[in-house]
Amino acid sequence: MSDDEKAVTIPAQGDAPQKEGATLTKDPAPGEVLLRVTGLKKHFPIKKGLLQRQVGAVHAVDGIDFEVRSGETLGVVGESGCGKSTMGRLITRLLEPTAGKVEFEGRDITHLGVGGMRPLRRDVQMIFQDPYSSLNPRHTIGTIVGAPFKLQGVEPEGGIKKEVQRLLEVVGLNPEHYNRYPHEFSGGQRQRIGIARALALNPRLVVADEPVSALDVSIQAQVVNLLDDLQQELGLTYVIIAHDLSVVRHVSDRIAVMYLGKIVELSDRDSLYKAPMHPYTKALMSAVPIPDPRRRAAKSERILLKGDVPSPISPPSGCRFHTRCWKATQICTTVEPPLVELKPGQQVACHHPENFADQAPQDTVLLTVAKEAAELVADEVLAESAETSAAVAAEVEAAAEAPAETPAETPAEGETPSRDK
Ligand SMILES: Nc1ncnc2c1ncn2[C@@H]1O[C@H](COP(=O)(O)OP(=O)(O)O)[C@@H](O)[C@H]1O
Ligand code: SF4
Ligand SMILES: [Mg+2]
Repeated sequence: MSDDEKAVTIPAQGDAPQKEGATLTKDPAPGEVLLRVTGLKKHFPIKKGLLQRQVGAVHAVDGIDFEVRSGETLGVVGESGCGKSTMGRLITRLLEPTAGKVEFEGRDITHLGVGGMRPLRRDVQMIFQDPYSSLNPRHTIGTIVGAPFKLQGVEPEGGIKKEVQRLLEVVGLNPEHYNRYPHEFSGGQRQRIGIARALALNPRLVVADEPVSALDVSIQAQVVNLLDDLQQELGLTYVIIAHDLSVVRHVSDRIAVMYLGKIVELSDRDSLYKAPMHPYTKALMSAVPIPDPRRRAAKSERILLKGDVPSPISPPSGCRFHTRCWKATQICTTVEPPLVELKPGQQVACHHPENFADQAPQDTVLLTVAKEAAELVADEVLAESAETSAAVAAEVEAAAEAPAETPAETPAEGETPSRDK
């Protein structure tokens, strides 16, 4: 179910070029597509008055497309309220989508009922943000971690108790603490209990919604590392949600950046860090403290975003980021930029991307927005942004002219035909 307004096809990413002559029938990337999301939306109705008439809707998730490949970690980042948790609940089918499609292993699961979802509940698990409220305080951790077996009517080899103790050990807890209650554990330990519960049924996909946000910074890395280790050992696939990039940076293979219910950039981790293309990504990255003391001195690295995120009840027209973007031009206020792959493995929704040729170079800068935003963006950043965009544009041009390794009978996949710099 693709967006009609989006005529550009986004080719599958994958670093390997296709074998000559071969038509692309199967995804070339190492992992098969486990989960595919198309045109996914969730609008929460706003009702008022005695009659509870609907007067509007919160556009929490407003048309997103992405896929998750088997064995990878997809990081999802964005400011609070941009729809990350809603997205997580949609793909785990804890929420019913307003529109769009969710496919798991090629099967449409968008509107499966309780019965149809039962087997899937084993395959897709969620880890929640708050380890304090997500564990029932009246139950022992043995009961909590063993609950999925009872719910699914699964009898593990050697019995539930033995399996639960094994799981506790796997997540770094003392199996002898089987009979203790959640309040007897620290936040980090509780999150480990949540992880053990999520892993009980040997899921294929684990969606972790800000799994470490509620924890002390000193504990966060331990829990993130645990997730990472478990992935290696158990061959898990993750979607890890976080509100800033620091948490997902080290564990993600790819990262999706969300803004007001949309994905604005979706990229391989390394490309994103080397050369973010969406101005919002750039701003998010500059907000992450830089541990290198030499770089910390470079104060120009910081971009402060002006004002609050606009309301998802009536998101701004055109590009939703235009009210806060220092590069906004006229077209940004009227035409929504589609998410397109501008570089291999890097999709971005922007008319004037960073580190790339401008997509609408002749357009008029919105002086008021740009000026206000520019006050918060150091001159060096603006200059650097113009410079890198020009340099990369030149590079892209040069690369396009140079003979590629593969015969150039067809234009490179991912080229949008209209891109004439
Ligand atoms: N059940 C709900 N009913 C109405 N609005 C909701 C509901 N859940 C979330 N929202 C709204 O949807 C938007 C996105 O929320 P959420 O997905 O929780 O964002 P995030 O996880 O990125 O902070 C917010 O404006 C939030 O208030
Ligand atoms: S330059 Fe325009 S399209 Fe790009 S993020 Fe800014 S406002 Fe949006
Ligand atoms: Mg959330």
